[in-house]
Amino acid sequence: MLDNAVKFICDKIGDFKPQIGIVLGSGLGELADEYNTISIPYSEIPGFEISTVSGHKGQLVFGEINGKQVVMMQGRFHFYEGHSIQKVVFPIKVMKKLGIKTIIITNAAGGVNPNFRPSDLMVITDHINFMGTNPLIGLNDDSMGERFPDMSEVYNPELIELVQKVGDSCGIDLQEGIYMALTGPSYETPAEVHMAKVIGADAVGMSTVPEAIVASWAGIKVIGISCICNSAAGVSTVGLSHNDVIKAANTAKNRFKTLIKEVIKKLK
Ligand code: HPA
Repeated sequence: MLDNAVKFICDKIGDFKPQIGIVLGSGLGELADEYNTISIPYSEIPGFEISTVSGHKGQLVFGEINGKQVVMMQGRFHFYEGHSIQKVVFPIKVMKKLGIKTIIITNAAGGVNPNFRPSDLMVITDHINFMGTNPLIGLNDDSMGERFPDMSEVYNPELIELVQKVGDSCGIDLQEGIYMALTGPSYETPAEVHMAKVIGADAVGMSTVPEAIVASWAGIKVIGISCICNSAAGVSTVGLSHNDVIKAANTAKNRFKTLIKEVIKKLK
């Protein structure tokens, strides 16, 4: 299935050779509209699912950003949509086969750290997998990565520093912290958010971790960026809604796009 998907895509993109992959989270997909040279709807790609979340378009977009060839996922697959965890990470394996060396994984998240404000951007320094599963369960594909991969540095330290430097030079304030993934689709209860805080999380969300595990396993350098869209349940007294999440992502999107473009410029 993986080979079929890769062949299908290669036939469409010809000699385009992406070096960088980007997963665009809820409300952050606009970057792909700006640099859309070739797009392929997920529904056409063998082995891809259809993404069902509003605010997610559901296509693979190829374009050149600041001189680098990039493949962007405009929308991703979530575990809570009912896809198997293997389907959630399938596109990451495809991008690996397409030749990417670095991936920027983005998401919308709830702020657990009380210093975070809606529309803040957070550079992910580490994660807590609280999804109750792992995308590497099952037969190991030794050609991609080892059976028991080290997860000490999923988020590449040099790249974390690079993102921080780019933020400084562009006047974009960046938070830094630990992202904890739960399955969703219900938002957390205040008690769950309290637990997240106690065990060291700064933000909670429903994605990214499966993709980051697989990318790291496959030897891809990972950058993770969360858009803090709301204070997580109980951190503030305001109720949560997906619309508010999309609104906050909208407020952040110009800063987000500038950051990503400048980071790409600096990537080797
Ligand atoms: N929790 C989990 N996922 C989220 C949140 C949240 O508060 N906000 C945006 N995505």
